[in-house]
Amino acid sequence: MEAMHATILPIPVHPGLPLVGNSFEYIRNPLAFMRRLLDTYGEQRMVRIQVGNRTTTLMLKPEETKQVIQENNRNYGRGKSFAILREFLGNGLLTSEGDFWRRQRRLAQPAFHRQKLALLAETMIDEAISWVNRLEQSASKGPVNISTATTDVTLRIVTRTLFGSSLADELDDLSKALANLNHVANNAVINPIRLPKWVPTPDNRAFNKATAQVNNLIFGIIESRRQTDQHRDDLLDMLLHAIDEETGERMSDEQLRDEMVTLFTAGHETTATSMAWTLHLLAQHPEVLARIKAEIQATLGQRKRPSADDLRAMPYLSRVVNESLRLYPPAWIMSRLSLGPDQFGNYRLEANSGVLISPYVLHHDPVSWPNPDRFDPDRFAPDKARERHAYAFLPFGGGPRLCIGNQFALMEMQALLTVLLNRFDLKPVPDLQITTQPLITLRPRQSIKIYLQ
Ligand code: HEM
Repeated sequence: MEAMHATILPIPVHPGLPLVGNSFEYIRNPLAFMRRLLDTYGEQRMVRIQVGNRTTTLMLKPEETKQVIQENNRNYGRGKSFAILREFLGNGLLTSEGDFWRRQRRLAQPAFHRQKLALLAETMIDEAISWVNRLEQSASKGPVNISTATTDVTLRIVTRTLFGSSLADELDDLSKALANLNHVANNAVINPIRLPKWVPTPDNRAFNKATAQVNNLIFGIIESRRQTDQHRDDLLDMLLHAIDEETGERMSDEQLRDEMVTLFTAGHETTATSMAWTLHLLAQHPEVLARIKAEIQATLGQRKRPSADDLRAMPYLSRVVNESLRLYPPAWIMSRLSLGPDQFGNYRLEANSGVLISPYVLHHDPVSWPNPDRFDPDRFAPDKARERHAYAFLPFGGGPRLCIGNQFALMEMQALLTVLLNRFDLKPVPDLQITTQPLITLRPRQSIKIYLQ
């Protein structure tokens, strides 16, 4: 019998200019560009684009996305765009690959289990309460700059949950040094003309100085922790004592440093921006705000301090957080590089091809999300969620490289929202126009300001 061969079709190519391809369209407004691509090529499920001198395939639908990041994930590596991140994160969970990554993930995973998170939740709740007390002072003076306020509290939370039981002075210095390293690294990532690290450009000098400062402080803390057997309730402690069940090994100082800087970087700005977007949406939608406040009041009654269980017991709060992560996913794009060829229906992806996965595109597809720009938390009611493909909603990625901090981030946002909204009402500043700015994370371009009353 003659073998049946599927016809191999070329992956659709979006036409562009000679040499630069689609670079201008992409750089001008990547979000709008990708949504146009979804409109035009949605039925074909993927499209090839050229940005800079690189050609890459944008996956437009949940099924193909799932094949890349879950079903056939071993065929996809991190790709070139992770090289810059690797310079300052080292070989931590976000940037490492293969067996090294697998071992680190095994070691770190238990630190994020439910019981451990319940301990960290207490720190989050403490910080939420002091944050709201601090806001009390600024609230009487006019609209509050929410972007600054959420950056401030998430910085304190990430520093305390990672290194919490260190000395207060050490924490303060470290938190400043890490925030500075992140700032310097952000500049480096968006600067198109970058010279190797040893060339003493102002950017490189700032980068090397910030790295040295962070390393000094972290290595100092690790050393003093290694000298005692006493256990503490922070992530550094959990990683210091983690033992690989397969090999009996522990992490070296170098690995611990890379993981701590990675967790700080991956966990700070993402949570700060999604908190800011959520508050912005709530200030614009009084009917949703009223419902969430009613849920908080019914759960807490007279109590001012929620427990970790309270936070988990508020389904509407969780829908609001999800809907905000759908509209404004902080990790709006993720990249991969195929190691070998792969087959998607009739399309063949060659080895060594760049692949883009965009939570932003998946979250704005009218097939999964009717009227996709509308803020409607009830899309996450259980019956509606069951009707959708699981990969239509990917704020934390998926497959084995799913965000390790997803439950941490949700708990943090729930703690901050509960304590804040239990105390304040939100009133929008009239005529405030907020647009998106897709950098490494999807930020608001303007400062979000809200009256807290
Ligand atoms: C709203 C907040 C957050 C969002 C939207 C977010 C999103 C993501 C996404 C999409 C990925 C997958 C990247 C990829 O596959 O290429 C990821 C990975 C990661 N995230 Fe998060 N994240 C958040 C908060 C956090 C927090 C709080 C932490 C730590 C405390 C964290 C630590 C990490 C780490 C270590 C990875 C790499 C995991 C691995 O590859 O094994 N994230 N995050």
